[in-house]
Amino acid sequence: MRTKNCQLLLLSAAVALLCSAAVFVSAGNPIRNFDWTVTYGEIQPLGVKQRGILINGKFPGPTIQAVTNDNLIINVHNHLDEPFLISWSGIQNRKNSYVDGVYGTTCPIPPGQNYTYKLQAKDQIGTFYYFPSLAFHKAAGGFGAINVLSRPMIPVPFAPPADDINFLVGDWYRTDHKALRAKLDRGHKIGFPHGVLINGHGPHSPPTFTFQSGKTYRLRVTNVGLQNSLNFRIQGHNLKLVEVEGTHTVQTVYSSLDVHVGQSLSVLVTADQPAKDYRIVVSTRFAKKVLTSTATLHYQNSDGPASGDIPNSPKKISWSIKQALSIRTNSTASAARPNPQGSYHYGQVNITRTIILQSAAAQVDRKQRYGINGVSFVHPDTPLKLADHFNIPGVFEVGSIPYAPPAQPRKLHLNASVMETDYRTFVEIVFQNREKIVQTYHINGHSFWVAGMDLGVWKP
Ligand SMILES: *[C@@H]1O[C@H](CO)[C@@H](O)[C@H](O)[C@H]1NC(C)=O
Ligand SMILES: *[C@@H]1O[C@H](CO)[C@@H](O)[C@H](O)[C@H]1NC(C)=O
Ligand SMILES: *[C@@H]1O[C@H](CO)[C@@H](O)[C@H](O)[C@H]1NC(C)=O
Ligand SMILES: *[C@@H]1O[C@H](CO)[C@@H](O)[C@H](O)[C@H]1NC(C)=O
Repeated sequence: MRTKNCQLLLLSAAVALLCSAAVFVSAGNPIRNFDWTVTYGEIQPLGVKQRGILINGKFPGPTIQAVTNDNLIINVHNHLDEPFLISWSGIQNRKNSYVDGVYGTTCPIPPGQNYTYKLQAKDQIGTFYYFPSLAFHKAAGGFGAINVLSRPMIPVPFAPPADDINFLVGDWYRTDHKALRAKLDRGHKIGFPHGVLINGHGPHSPPTFTFQSGKTYRLRVTNVGLQNSLNFRIQGHNLKLVEVEGTHTVQTVYSSLDVHVGQSLSVLVTADQPAKDYRIVVSTRFAKKVLTSTATLHYQNSDGPASGDIPNSPKKISWSIKQALSIRTNSTASAARPNPQGSYHYGQVNITRTIILQSAAAQVDRKQRYGINGVSFVHPDTPLKLADHFNIPGVFEVGSIPYAPPAQPRKLHLNASVMETDYRTFVEIVFQNREKIVQTYHINGHSFWVAGMDLGVWKP
């Protein structure tokens, strides 16, 4: 890999900063092998039969349990009728960014073929997930949890929990990925979802989790949905936030937490209430209609079923922003290494460039499309990274997307949009959302620090 690849900032529905990671020495670290077959299969999470995407017959897909620095060798066989690409959020490729699973850096697996992803949970801890990153496949499944545990000698800033439980929560449509795509191509938005799922279960089949009185459990919550932010809460129990996507946080107690699309967090829950059943509640945020699903927290010596109203979800957007601002890194706690996570002096960094990205929804050729700074990304036939590596002309042009929103940001055109930034510089990216829906960005392949957030329009 040449450093040249660090100079590209790729833009699509997701934003990718392409940068070749260091060549990792993986010798001595355990190797975990996985053999996955991806197929269509019938699922009915909302009580209606539909086509789902299964991994080894499972929906959601299998959980990857790893320890910091483990090597993950994952042979994925694509039995779908379309190219399939998995994005491994939070996990790095062993040698470069060719395998991080975002279109442009990684080729999808053609139908009927297989590809072996070689990843390493290098210097990583925490809660992440994998998901299909192309063609709305995520609307049909193909996602799963990734838990990276600390190595035994690394101090963790809380006592070992009695158990570690993943909650994959997300909005859900009764129609599959192809139907949703067709809807956009007919010029319609995908609309409001039909339900909320918890680990693949809709409101009619709530899953049960058994807790022992007096014990503390780690709940790892990930929003694997398409567009809706979700609120997570438990009747009668507090949530102590301890980790957000690989960073140990200042441990703060919340009565409920908003989890936005693509986010993962860990909370500690102590079974300190009278022994009966309680509802674990997940509901949509920022929408006129509230969709809710529940799971059951069952005390092992339970005296009876859950009773009483389910707790209300917060209503205001400002509540959510205030909560997001309250989440802080615990800079004295360790992460993957024994030394503290440190505090980053953002104010002392010299910023080389400020990029303002503004999302917009609009029609292009009577199809519903989404764009950034006036450009809706299209996949060129030659993957961007190969075009860059082999200097193939005519695939993309650097500068085909402006660094700030144009005068008419809703006037979209299609392009393989590529931006440029310089190697080893600090770039400030302002994400601006003037639309009436929550916009989610997957910022891939580099180190990012949130410097601030608020309502309104950003000014220097
Ligand atoms: C495809 O799978 C076979 C075994 O099932 C394996 O030997 C081969 O290396 C895999 N190919 C790729 C490109 O990963
Ligand atoms: C931060 O982490 C340190 C080290 O584990 C711990 O002693 C301290 O209680 C934590 N502080 C908060 C506020 O969570
Ligand atoms: C930022 O630039 C100033 C002036 O050129 C320089 O003195 C300072 O060391 C730079 N800060 C960092 C963190 O590089
Ligand atoms: C994309 O933008 C570049 C640079 O502005 C332009 O030369 C090219 O024709 C555009 N491609 C398409 C498909 O519109």
